[in-house]
Amino acid sequence: MINKQIIWGIFFVLIFASCNNDEKVVFINADESGTNPNVPTQTLKEKAKFKIGAAVKMKDLQDVNYKNAVIKHYSQITGEFEMKMANIWTSSTAYNYTAADYLVNFAKDNSLEVHGHTLVWYRSFPDWFVNAKYDSIAFESKVKVFITDVVGRYKGRVKSWDVVNEVFADGGALREESIIKPIFKDPIGFYGRCFQYAKAADPDAKLFYNDYNVVLDAGKRSAIKKMVTRFKAKGYPIDGVGDQFHYANDTNKQTMQTGFTDMASTGLLIHISELDIKVNTAKSDSYVFTDAEAQKQSETYKYITSMYEALPQNQKFAITTWGVTDKFTWLTEAWHPKEYPLLLDSEFNKKPAYQGFLSGLK
Ligand code: XIL
Repeated sequence: MINKQIIWGIFFVLIFASCNNDEKVVFINADESGTNPNVPTQTLKEKAKFKIGAAVKMKDLQDVNYKNAVIKHYSQITGEFEMKMANIWTSSTAYNYTAADYLVNFAKDNSLEVHGHTLVWYRSFPDWFVNAKYDSIAFESKVKVFITDVVGRYKGRVKSWDVVNEVFADGGALREESIIKPIFKDPIGFYGRCFQYAKAADPDAKLFYNDYNVVLDAGKRSAIKKMVTRFKAKGYPIDGVGDQFHYANDTNKQTMQTGFTDMASTGLLIHISELDIKVNTAKSDSYVFTDAEAQKQSETYKYITSMYEALPQNQKFAITTWGVTDKFTWLTEAWHPKEYPLLLDSEFNKKPAYQGFLSGLK
């Protein structure tokens, strides 16, 4: 009898343990297999009523898991560097479109849109161009040809462009280190004309100004708004503003919200254009990405997508994450090797951040 009781006892303990265990396994895998009704199975692109973009690299697309993840979860791609000026304009007499073409063809084959990044950025003028020391007339006519050629080549295939990137320094003054500032008496006028050149080459493309810390830096934001007002008055064809959103778990959400609402008051399209959420903000070598940290990151993502959803429908354009998986992110080089900023982990599993992003979507 005692023996029987012990055996039943062991039996129940085992059943209980295996149920618990099952629960964990089910939780991790169910959203992939679709067997757990409590975990959403929709992908980002299926749920969103606007584009969900990813910055990708041609090189990384050779990894089949990466490539499949892009196709499965996203509806738009941006070349992480393949369409920057220095990468295309390899000499004064030649363009190299190999990588840019690859991305545009990849997008077409997989029904993805392409967002072009970026036509004019002080950091991506090729060396030969910088060394040529053009005066303002020659400078502008060269850039005009570049914009006309590149936007024209991808007319109808690249649906939107960051025409100008990162003009303003922190606080809102024009960047001192930009090669454009000393050349033009009125650099903002030059930027405005760049929008005209892009528009002439593809009248249907949506044209953006893109910068970082737009929602956090009130000075920079007011400089951008001033520029937008001037562009509108002059008829320079700007459609939208991109805030890169390279933020972190501890970024102040109230400041974010205030700045976001303020930027949206321009009535322009709003693009969250390079979203990633840092967790190791102290750049600690001993940092451990715990479940609690992953949860916090999930909440940050949810906050951001809900905030975006609160925009008037006609101002929503896209949310683009700057990368796809923690396996490949610019932050492990540019920030700290222990960084986990994206929606999929290194094995391409959905992180809590993915569910957070998803649950913020309407
Ligand atoms: C970064 C890319 O992620 C890197 O791969 C590249 O080497 C340097 O540029 N703001 C921008 C992006 O507008 O173009 C930058 O991308 C990240 C910061």
